[in-house]
Amino acid sequence: MIELIKKKRDGHVLSDIDINTIINGFVKGEIPDYQVSAWLMAVFFQGMNDDETAALTDAMMRSGDMIDLSDIPGIKVDKHSTGGVGDKTTLILAPLVAAAGVPVAKMSGRGLGHTGGTLDKLESIAGFKVEMTAQEFIDKVKKHHIAICSQNNKLVPADKKLYALRDVTGTVDNISLIASSVMSKKLACGADAIVIDLKVGDGAFIKTIADAEKLAEIMISTATKMNRKLVAVITGMEEPLGFAIGNALEVKEAIATLRGHGPEDLTKLCLELGSHMLMLSGKTHNHDEGVALLKSLIHNGKAFDKFVELVDIQGGQTDMVIHPELLPQAKLTHEYKSKATGYISHLSAMDIGLASVRLGAGRETKESLIDYSAGIILTKKVGDHVQMGDTLAVLHANDAVFFTKAEEYMNLAYTFSETKPDKQPLIFKTVK
Ligand code: URA
Repeated sequence: MIELIKKKRDGHVLSDIDINTIINGFVKGEIPDYQVSAWLMAVFFQGMNDDETAALTDAMMRSGDMIDLSDIPGIKVDKHSTGGVGDKTTLILAPLVAAAGVPVAKMSGRGLGHTGGTLDKLESIAGFKVEMTAQEFIDKVKKHHIAICSQNNKLVPADKKLYALRDVTGTVDNISLIASSVMSKKLACGADAIVIDLKVGDGAFIKTIADAEKLAEIMISTATKMNRKLVAVITGMEEPLGFAIGNALEVKEAIATLRGHGPEDLTKLCLELGSHMLMLSGKTHNHDEGVALLKSLIHNGKAFDKFVELVDIQGGQTDMVIHPELLPQAKLTHEYKSKATGYISHLSAMDIGLASVRLGAGRETKESLIDYSAGIILTKKVGDHVQMGDTLAVLHANDAVFFTKAEEYMNLAYTFSETKPDKQPLIFKTVK
């Protein structure tokens, strides 16, 4: 392993055998975390070429079981976000698209760095189980058109271990590591068609459109080699999505969206991604037809009913979804006030994400426990005019000490201007 670390550190290209040696040794526990951390940092600085990225994806995909969904009739679709702040789209999209009769087979991840993870959000619903066998996953998708599972130790264990290590070693935001992490999971999970929500901006791991386009191309070429269809939608993550950040708070906002009164940006993004999922599945033929179908499923209550069904089949307490006030609630709240008068010209998703981690909503180390009730409700967003002393956000936590820690990041998050700023687009482009 020392030789392989030095080889990458010195900018050389690793062979398929080198990469397999690292991944297999790490998964078996023969290579310790500290050596893999050093290798990840070398990859971070030196990068990997397309062949190395493909070899890493393949080694990770094969590190555990692979799910065969071919028994389930229809085109199975999956969706993945490269991670953002306040990004609860899966909680809305999976039941929404399943309610249209399209099988949604979704493997999700946990919070990483300043971003949240779908599994942590779902687990804020008491009893919700994300671990299941491949057969249980298949049976649920077959019968209910929906299942959301975690990578257990059998499914892409390499990514599970690497993801946790990257999170705590500052090695998340690298194109090759992100591409191999996302694609190994998507490919092992067996869906025929995948929509990637590729986040760009302050709160995302990818900061520029050029990098997002490169990542989209790597993903499309990997999917094509494996006979899968993939569409990447490049979307903005300058400010948080919606108003809620933090696990149970986000579940509440997702429920409101499924009931037809969600925030405008979140609803718009779900309709956009959902319409691509419907088109890939063959259910609809164009964007507008998909959007109209999805809107009707929200308005007639079928999307929300599907979410209740999902919670039920995965062991969660459905009364928490029907009555969201039963979801975990923090003991304390604190109003964060504006230090200036003017328009909010920038609201850093990254700083808001870090503030929510300080409140207990995310992990500071890979062993950290999450406080499901902690988080932030924004009351103002970019473009809003505020007076000094107005409430910009309400912080939720179970210990007042956390408010002081979070405020350091809240103070960094806001920039003000005298004139109304232009808002960044939510959806930049679609790469097919
Ligand atoms: N999402 C993933 O699944 N993996 C990454 O590396 C980043 C975002």
